[in-house]
Amino acid sequence: MRITVKQQVLLAPATILVLLILLLAFMQYTYWDLSAKRREAKAIGTTFVALAEADMAARRLHLLLRSMQHTGMASPEDMALVSDLYERLFDAIGRLKPFGVLKNSGQISHLLALAEELNPADSPRIEETAESFARFRTELSAISNINQINSNRLRLDHEQDITQLVERTAIVSMSVLILAIVSGLLIAGYFSRRILNRVQSLSRNAVRIADGKLELPPAPDHIRDELDTLAISINRMTKRLIRVVGTEKLLEGAEEERRRIAMDLHDQTLSDLSTILRGLQSLSTETADKTVLAKTEKLEAELERAIANLRDIMNNLHPQTLDILGLGAAIEAHLEQDCCSDNLPEYHLYIDPQVSHLNLDQLKQLALYRIAIEAIQNVIKHAMASRYEVNLEVREETFILSVEDNGKGIPDRDSRDSGRGLNNIRERAKAITAEVSWKSSRFSSGTRFELTLHT
Ligand SMILES: Nc1ncnc2c1ncn2[C@@H]1O[C@H](COP(=O)(O)OP(=O)(O)OP(=O)(O)O)[C@@H](O)[C@H]1O
Ligand SMILES: [Mg+2]
Repeated sequence: MRITVKQQVLLAPATILVLLILLLAFMQYTYWDLSAKRREAKAIGTTFVALAEADMAARRLHLLLRSMQHTGMASPEDMALVSDLYERLFDAIGRLKPFGVLKNSGQISHLLALAEELNPADSPRIEETAESFARFRTELSAISNINQINSNRLRLDHEQDITQLVERTAIVSMSVLILAIVSGLLIAGYFSRRILNRVQSLSRNAVRIADGKLELPPAPDHIRDELDTLAISINRMTKRLIRVVGTEKLLEGAEEERRRIAMDLHDQTLSDLSTILRGLQSLSTETADKTVLAKTEKLEAELERAIANLRDIMNNLHPQTLDILGLGAAIEAHLEQDCCSDNLPEYHLYIDPQVSHLNLDQLKQLALYRIAIEAIQNVIKHAMASRYEVNLEVREETFILSVEDNGKGIPDRDSRDSGRGLNNIRERAKAITAEVSWKSSRFSSGTRFELTLHT
């Protein structure tokens, strides 16, 4: 089953919450049970009062009717009292609340029928009246007894119920609370350990990568949660890093090889040629023959040219100024040496003083130097510009190299894929994690090449 990290974190509190809700429901049920019993007790109480009232009204009505029958006189006040008492009697019986055994026994309806027999409007004879009252009061006292018994039973039950309720609530509450806490802790412990182990393993892999040990960390086959996504991302990131470092190493190796060749040329070939030159120079001072002298002088000039060419080649292979003076000075030297003739576009070079404080390593400096030279060469070769600007700036910890011309502008993608220069620029920039772009220049026409490197 797929459970996300968020769900794993929420599972423990959710379990505790569900158990607490169950506890609340149980308490509510207990209260409901208790309140039903309380309603029954209230009904008994009401019935008790109604019975007493009915009994009292019946007794008074009986006495009054008897005295009226004895005297044979019935004043209007007496008649009013009789009908009032009868009404009260009826009203009291109407307030009887049937409960327990009384509900279906038919005793209440029997009592009602007996009460109707007592109606003074029927003007019964004295014997019948006495009999009716006797029957009515017997039934009343039977119901009253039942009421009393129920009342006692309920009182006892109520006390028992309260004790039971307190005990049961305490036991259930304690058990549910303990269950909630224990299960919450177990679930939280289980899932947090699971998450922690995986996070620790991910962080170990990340630390290994940061330390430069580029071993591919394991990646899950399928994504179950956010941590799997993270593991797959770290795996992909490492793969890319291995590729980038590979390119970097390749470039580093190539640069090292060029440096070695430049040194060999300097130490071996250049010193051999210098020895030959010195030999020729001494030969020309020793000889008196004019034709030999002319030939040696020609050979000397050619040799000096060859030596100068060789120095150019050596400088191209590995610019010594870069090692000695740094990036800005090396680019400046290149511009002064190779881009200064009349038939070439005019250039303007700006080097931010902060560039020298940047502390760029050898490989980055070489990559930046070669990128700058290729961008400048492209302006000279393709832009047909009359001027261009080369800027080396530092803005908020970011190094920016730009070469901006006022030429014809860079053509669309297809036609610019012909050479290797732009690709080399991209590859070198990627190796040192710099970003490059070619946009329209701020002049009325032309191209702005820009490289940004976060230092
Ligand atoms: N500043 C520029 N102005 C106008 N066009 C440019 C500029 N820079 C490059 N281009 C265009 O981009 C194309 C590709 O340049 P790229 O440097 O890759 O190759 P190249 O200079 O022709 O050959 P290579 O650099 O391999 O000697 C060029 O042929 C040119 O048309
Ligand atoms: Mg080029």
